[in-house]
Amino acid sequence: MARPFNFSAGPAALPLEVLEQAAAEMLDWHGSGVSVMEMSHRGSDFMSICDQAERDLRELLAVPAAFRILFMQGGGLGQNAIVPMNLIGHSASHTADFVLTGSWSIKSQAEAQRYGEAHVAARIDSARPVRLPPPSTWQLSTRPSYVHLCSNETIDGIEFQDLPDLHSLGCDAPLVIDCSSHIASRTIDWRRVGVAYAGAQKNIGPAGLTLVIVREDLLGHALAICPSVFDYRTVADQGSMFNTPPTYAIYIAGLTFQWLKRQTEEGLTGLAAIEARNIAKAKLLYDCIDSSSLYRNEVDPSCRSRMNVPFFLANDSLTESFLSQAKEAGLLQLRGHKSVGGLRASLYNAMPIEGVQALVRHMHAFEAKHA
Ligand SMILES: Cc1ncc(COP(=O)(O)O)c(C=O)c1O
Repeated sequence: MARPFNFSAGPAALPLEVLEQAAAEMLDWHGSGVSVMEMSHRGSDFMSICDQAERDLRELLAVPAAFRILFMQGGGLGQNAIVPMNLIGHSASHTADFVLTGSWSIKSQAEAQRYGEAHVAARIDSARPVRLPPPSTWQLSTRPSYVHLCSNETIDGIEFQDLPDLHSLGCDAPLVIDCSSHIASRTIDWRRVGVAYAGAQKNIGPAGLTLVIVREDLLGHALAICPSVFDYRTVADQGSMFNTPPTYAIYIAGLTFQWLKRQTEEGLTGLAAIEARNIAKAKLLYDCIDSSSLYRNEVDPSCRSRMNVPFFLANDSLTESFLSQAKEAGLLQLRGHKSVGGLRASLYNAMPIEGVQALVRHMHAFEAKHA
């Protein structure tokens, strides 16, 4: 079945093979006679689905044994409260440091203020961020409980190409990353990370599931006010089954992990293959933007996001006709975030290179008409 290309920033496109498999298994999962949605989360069928999903994710992202994988709920914004409730007491300072690089990290810092001191270590000084503040310029506090950053700013299109090495900055606090919009698109250097969290609805599966990958020694520091259901120690001890987890979302995420493991590209497999493909997809689109006089992206090439590409037309009044003609060409959900306007193409793992080629063809044709 031919489907349009969906550039939504999230909830976002899923791999067609995953949707087809889920459809085929919808009424009767592996001869069980029921849908995954209808299974007890404590039954052996669902337990096997959940265990497999966790194993596959661990293998895919090369998560070391010292980290626990938690399947939680509450989304990325939920973690903006859940992280401080679990970690702000990790150091006597009750202070967390924040690197503000765009809309999502600003929200994280604002929420954390409800639970302790939320110190701003660095911020981008511009209404429209274009460059990451170099780690050497960050003003970290004395003994912070943790340092938080958003490793890919979905709205602003800014991505850390390397995670900072806090040790080299003289800081031994754990680094917490909100990787909601680029998880599983590239490798993660776990030596530099204490906690990685991500809402699933961009690169993993349906909304409703939140992944938390937390270093074992960071469990057990929750504030007394932390609801048990959000206490990392409790969730880890109960194998993400303290309460009913989002079972169907975990199942789809598991199918996506298997799909990712099967990917091949230029002799590479799994995450390395998908990363190579993501680099090629992003290059195609940025090259088109940079070689044009109609389109522009203002982010410094050193920190342009591979996943979310915001761009603007020289003449903003053409934006609506760009969008309607794109829709007619089978290119959906290219409107920029309401806070910044313009256009945005999200190129998550499930977007094939053919989708980006079709977008670039549309952009060239539109430019030829309006030059
Ligand atoms: C980087 C990032 N963090 C957090 C969020 C918020 O996630 P949720 O809506 O799951 O709370 C988003 C959503 O787009 C995001 O892109």
